[in-house]
Amino acid sequence: MTPRTARLAVDGGEPVRTRPFPPRRVFGPEERAAVDAFFARTIETGDDFRYGGDEQRAYEAEFARYHGGGHALLVSSGTAALYVALGALEPRRPGEVVVPAVTDAGGVMPVPLLGLVPVVADTAPGSFNVGAPQIERCLSEWTRAIVVAHIGGEPVAMEPVLALARRHGLPVVEDCSQAHGAEYRGRPVGTFGDVAVYSTMTNKHHSTGGQGGVVHTRDPALYERIRRFSDRGKAAGADAVRNVQAALNFNGNDLAAVIGRVQLAKLPGVLAARRDLVTRLRAGLHGLEATGVPRVAADCSPAYWFVRIRLDLARLGVSMTEYLRALRAEGIPCGVWADIPAAEPWYERQVRAAEPGAWPLGAADRPRRPAGRASWPNAEAAAGRHVTLFVHERWTSREIDDACAALTKLERAYLARTASSKGARR
Ligand SMILES: Cc1ncc(COP(=O)(O)O)c(C=O)c1O
Repeated sequence: MTPRTARLAVDGGEPVRTRPFPPRRVFGPEERAAVDAFFARTIETGDDFRYGGDEQRAYEAEFARYHGGGHALLVSSGTAALYVALGALEPRRPGEVVVPAVTDAGGVMPVPLLGLVPVVADTAPGSFNVGAPQIERCLSEWTRAIVVAHIGGEPVAMEPVLALARRHGLPVVEDCSQAHGAEYRGRPVGTFGDVAVYSTMTNKHHSTGGQGGVVHTRDPALYERIRRFSDRGKAAGADAVRNVQAALNFNGNDLAAVIGRVQLAKLPGVLAARRDLVTRLRAGLHGLEATGVPRVAADCSPAYWFVRIRLDLARLGVSMTEYLRALRAEGIPCGVWADIPAAEPWYERQVRAAEPGAWPLGAADRPRRPAGRASWPNAEAAAGRHVTLFVHERWTSREIDDACAALTKLERAYLARTASSKGARR
């Protein structure tokens, strides 16, 4: 039992935890056995693997089945998946694409690389995810598509986004890189928009080994364009050798697919473990006044790539930097995952400050936006109010208990400190 106001480790007290947290160990004997068997087959038959073979097609079929049908394509990364999905939508240039304020840089960079202008939608208040009203403020006659990202595995409220997109005749791209298998209204995310993209790099819920990505759509014509745009513009068809479009090569490969198939079979277990863990974490923090897991909408079942811990730092009387230092000193790995790509140097140099001539495509008459720093106050406020814990399947009751004990210890110590400094001022 944590004493009511134990001395914080950062101030020289006993840390809650001294043993390191367990590594996730994404890959195990199952992946090794599958890869060994695949190599054995390859060596035996002399049929050297490459891309688009039986294993890749099987992985893609299994991925599509998991998502209720449609067509999936394994590509080389999540960034490539978004590049390919947006490119295959063939947006008219010049044009703009609405992107979320909080996301990975790879969830925005494809937009300018395709010669389109990103327009940043703020998050919904209190959330890391965009909301429909924030997107609506970004729409203009130039808008060609809307990208939403289910950040941290928490589903975006898709219904109002889809209604808005329908009203304006705009395609919606769902970036599910952090949300494999998260559900909204009983269906996996990625099945609501026109096309969905996934990163399958090692730290995601399921991985294709190191790096990888998937594009998924229910639209067969769009799928053909996605294939073409990810494979040097090759015309569709079994014997097609003609390249009908200039495009890059983002192909996945059969070895990645072998790993991906084993990983995909593990995904339901990964999701169940993460959901259970967050339920217990939430219960363990119940009753705290300034620390807690934010409420999840009843129609959402998150995938929890990370879990946000909401803090009332004003009540606790500390800065985020101090808080993070103190929580880490208690032995709890934590951070703030709320990347805002539009606040990064590349965006400033290559998007906001770019002169028309600096643009690769559609340069001369690209849409002009007012210069100066755009603002995303909700995103900044949310980033300043949450620490993130990278929960994973290897966390046991011990890790949950220690995380809860440390968060409780910090709250009690800080509230006691603010109470005594208020008392002293009276
Ligand atoms: C939301 C989001 N979009 C895109 C990406 C880019 O994926 P990748 O790193 O596989 O290129 C990531 C990676 O973490 C991501 O989290």
